[in-house]
Amino acid sequence: MATFLTYSFSLMKLLVFSSLSLILVSCFVKKSNAFEGRKDSTSATGIHFHTVKISSLLPASVCTTSSIKGTSNKRQSTLEVYHRYGPCSQLGQDKANPTTIPSLSEILMNDEFHVKSIQAQVNPNSNTKNLNDKKANLPVQSGRSLDTGNYIVTIGLGTPKKTLSFAFDTGSDLTWTQCEPCAGSCYEQQEPIFNPSTSTTYSNVSCSSAQCSQLLSATGNKPGCTSSSTCIYEILYGDLSSSVGFLSKDKLTITRDTFPNFLFGCGQDNEGLFGKTAGILALGRNPISIISQTAQKYGKYFSYCLPSTSSQTGYLTLGKNKVSDNVKFTPFDNSHGQTFYFINILSITIGGRQLPIEQSVFKTSGCIIDSGTVITRLPPAAYATMRIEFGKQMSKYKIAPAFSILDTCYDVSGYTTITIPVISFTFSGNVKVNLAPSEILVAASATTICLAFASNKDVSDVGIFGNTQQKTFEVIYDVAGGKLGFGPGGCQ
Ligand SMILES: *[C@@H]1O[C@H](CO)[C@@H](O)[C@H](O)[C@H]1NC(C)=O
Repeated sequence: MATFLTYSFSLMKLLVFSSLSLILVSCFVKKSNAFEGRKDSTSATGIHFHTVKISSLLPASVCTTSSIKGTSNKRQSTLEVYHRYGPCSQLGQDKANPTTIPSLSEILMNDEFHVKSIQAQVNPNSNTKNLNDKKANLPVQSGRSLDTGNYIVTIGLGTPKKTLSFAFDTGSDLTWTQCEPCAGSCYEQQEPIFNPSTSTTYSNVSCSSAQCSQLLSATGNKPGCTSSSTCIYEILYGDLSSSVGFLSKDKLTITRDTFPNFLFGCGQDNEGLFGKTAGILALGRNPISIISQTAQKYGKYFSYCLPSTSSQTGYLTLGKNKVSDNVKFTPFDNSHGQTFYFINILSITIGGRQLPIEQSVFKTSGCIIDSGTVITRLPPAAYATMRIEFGKQMSKYKIAPAFSILDTCYDVSGYTTITIPVISFTFSGNVKVNLAPSEILVAASATTICLAFASNKDVSDVGIFGNTQQKTFEVIYDVAGGKLGFGPGGCQ
C-alpha cells in the first residue's frame, strides 16, 4: 500500500482527475464495428486497430446524459446509471472533502480485495483465501467490497417512498440499506438514512420463516435471531467491510412499478467501503435477490449499459425490451452454484490474431461476468499470452513502469494519437465481442496508458469479465432463458 501511495502522490492531481473516469480513452471508430457474430474468429475482416486521440484522455467535467433517458418511456423500468465519482453523481461532489474521491491506485487496490473475495467464495479451497492471513479466519463470504462497484442507481423504499442511491452488483444476492437507529454504526451516506419507523408498510421477518433460512445460501452466513424473534442477516466482505441487521420487508418502488413486501436487509451495523451509497442493490441469481423477487413482473430479465466515461450516464433496465438484431447471446454456465453468472471464454484475439491459448486454460478456472469488478482477470497462462502479443503489437511505444495491478503500461508523452490493436473475446456460441479503446486501456496519467487486464495468481482462480470491458455494450441477462447478450453501442 505504501508504495502505491508514494507513487500516487507524485501523480496526485492527475490521478484524482483521472479516477473520475478511470477510463479516459475515447474512440474514433464507429461503434457499429464493436461487435461481430462471425463463426470463424480468425478470418474476421473487421477492423484490427483503433486510433486513439490522446487529447481525448481527459474526462469532461460536466455530465452528459445519455439519450436513453429521452427514450425511456419506451423502456418499462429503466433506471439511470451513473458513476459514483463522476459529474453525474451527487455522491462524489464533496468539494469540502475532496479526499473522499479515491485515486486510481486506491480503486485498483480495492478491486483486488473485491476479486479475492469473489474468488474465495467461488472456490473456498483456493490459495487466494489465505493470501492475507488477517482474512483467512473469516468464513466464506458472499458479497464484497463495493468501493469498486461504482455504478449507482436510485430506487424508492417504504411508504411514503424514500429515494435512495444504491450501488448495483450482479455478484451479490441480498439487497440491503443502512437503517435507523443504526444500533451498531452507520457510515455517512448521501440521502437521509432509511428509518423503518416512518414507513407504514415496513415489517420485520421472523426467524422461523423460510426467507430467514434462505440467508445461509444468499450471504454465506447463518442467520441470527433477536429475543423478539426478528431474523438477523450478516454479510461480511473480503476487505472486512460488513453489514449486519434485520431481515425486513417493505414496499420497493422502481420507476413506476411497486413491489409490496420486498425482502431486504435493514442494516444496523454497517462498516467499510460503500462510499456514500445507501447500500447494495443485489442482482445475483439466488431466490432472495431482486431478480428473483421481481420475477413475476420482470421475468428474471435485466440489462444495463455502463457509460464509457464517468461524465456520461447509462441505464439499468429491469424486464424485457425489444432486443436489437445485433445482440448476440452466449449461454450461462449454470453448473457453478447459485450466485454468480458464469460464461465460457473460447478465445481471445488481438489485432486480428487469435492467441494460442489452450481451451483447458479457460475451462480450469471458469469465468464470471461481474458488474462490480473493474479490471478483467484472466487465468495466468491466458494473461501471459495476451501480454506478449499486445506488447508485440505496441512495440513502437515506450514501455512505462507497472501501475498497481496493471503491468503492461506505455509512456505516450509526445503523441497526439496512438494506434492500438483491437482486442476481442469469443464466448460460447461463437459470440465475438470487439472491445473499444476505453475497454482496452486505462490511463494511469495523462502520458501513461496501461492494458486494462490483469492476471490471476492461481490457475484455479475464477476468471472475471469486469466492468471496464463491459462499458458501452448493452449487456442483457436473460436469467430465465439461461443466456447473456452483448450488443454494441448500448448507451446511445
Ligand atoms: C423489528 O425488530 C427489532 C428487533 O427485534 C425491533 O427493535 C423493532 O422494533 C422491530 N420493528 C417492527 C416494526 O416490528
